[in-house]
Amino acid sequence: MYSDLAIHLDGDQPLQQQLYRELRRAILGGRLLPKQKIPSTRSLAQSLGISRTTVTLCYEQLLSEGYLEAVVGSGTYVCAQIPDDLLQSEAAVAADSHPALPLQLSQYGAVLEETDLSRPPEPEVPFSFRYGRPALDQFPRKLWRKLLSQRCTAADWLDYTIDPLGYYPLREQIAQYLARARAVQCIPEQIVITNGSQQALDLILRLLIDPGDAIAMEDPGYPSARQLFLTQGATIIPVTVDEAGLRVCDLPQGLAIKLVHVTPSHQFPTGAILSLPRRLELLAWVQQRGALIIEDDYDSEYRYGERPIPALQGLDHSGSVLYIGTFSKVLFPSLRIGYLVLPQRLVALFGKAKWLCDRQLPLLEQQVLTDFIQGGHLEQHIRRMRSLYDQRRQTIVSALNHHFGKRVLIMGEQAGIHVMIKLQTSLSDQAVVERGAQVGVGLMSAQSHYLNPHHTGEFIFGYAELSAEDIKVGIRRLAQVLTLRGNDLPSG
Ligand SMILES: Cc1ncc(COP(=O)(O)O)c(C=O)c1O
Repeated sequence: MYSDLAIHLDGDQPLQQQLYRELRRAILGGRLLPKQKIPSTRSLAQSLGISRTTVTLCYEQLLSEGYLEAVVGSGTYVCAQIPDDLLQSEAAVAADSHPALPLQLSQYGAVLEETDLSRPPEPEVPFSFRYGRPALDQFPRKLWRKLLSQRCTAADWLDYTIDPLGYYPLREQIAQYLARARAVQCIPEQIVITNGSQQALDLILRLLIDPGDAIAMEDPGYPSARQLFLTQGATIIPVTVDEAGLRVCDLPQGLAIKLVHVTPSHQFPTGAILSLPRRLELLAWVQQRGALIIEDDYDSEYRYGERPIPALQGLDHSGSVLYIGTFSKVLFPSLRIGYLVLPQRLVALFGKAKWLCDRQLPLLEQQVLTDFIQGGHLEQHIRRMRSLYDQRRQTIVSALNHHFGKRVLIMGEQAGIHVMIKLQTSLSDQAVVERGAQVGVGLMSAQSHYLNPHHTGEFIFGYAELSAEDIKVGIRRLAQVLTLRGNDLPSG
């Protein structure tokens, strides 16, 4: 029951009428829910500073009209059944009765309002090759719960932390892990723990980019980064990608580029790996111009066969690389923990921005993650997942080759948890996706990842979530539905 029901009485009408109108509106607008107990006449009269008789008369009217019902010995309740048409008409009236004044949005707000952030729907289908999800059913939840409850017992995670850069022991663990696994050179003091890699990008943009500044990015590239760049008013310079990654020679010579955004270890979405000569060329290019590189290393833990290529950051000796990593793919996306490894000269500034932005990430999760890494579980989980994803990867590659033969070109299968394919077909991308959905197969066109939008017949397949058996069935069904009705593919 609400004893402190917020009711506004200040009109010219008699108090009883005003109270009646407000209560009716609260019921029909959903602020008071069916079967909800409402305050007694005495307590409402007291809290509003009006006479109890006024409240009693008003309740009587609402009782007689069926908005309220009295339960002997218990009190007064909102009627259990308020007709839907009454509820809807009142909601519409309420919306119209206070026309909003024109809003003066900020430049950022205005751009954002015009920006389409819709993502392709992820249909609920049995064979969804949706991108970017690890095998969540494989996550060691029992172990996580044990670590969580151990940490929860103490009380040291309840207060503000002093350090907006993140829980120091976690930053130590990440620094050691990055040195071991990715040849990143850093000390814990250079690491900021962020809300996923998205917040790392957001902070970089706020601190380094003004409207009109130029950012070079891979084309095709990561749409969530592009959207951030655009809302910040940056000018985006698309740079083509080939099988050796970003074509560094295509970076414009005459233009002052402030940032270059790259996914060198597994180009998103083509999966190309930036070759060592190009890495060195890119570093030299930014160093000569005083530009900075954003290295988004989102899924390179999963590298199959060959030895991992060290991060670009580890090759840099001039403080030109801002390295971003995330636990969204190696653990689970809702953890919302990522990290940013900064050149020393930027750390204090980023700490200030993080403090103003959201103070800190939840401490308990940071502590649990620290224990998880320190106990060796992160690397154990990665090893286990790498071998599972490797099987799934081999299954999808051979199923695609088997069913589509020469009509398919598979890209980026050496690393990560997705492949991109180029399919020879006369069907539009939309028709391919729709036909897939008809037979329970979900896949995604790569078109929206291009700045230069004339690419068709390219699709992204995430494979980490599906069992080998489901991958085989899904690809077979897709081939059948495209072949049977399109007559543009061989039967395999
Ligand atoms: C290129 C790229 N970077 C980063 C991420 C991860 O983002 P976050 O850490 O915000 O979950 C993704 C996820 O889909 C991605 O594709």
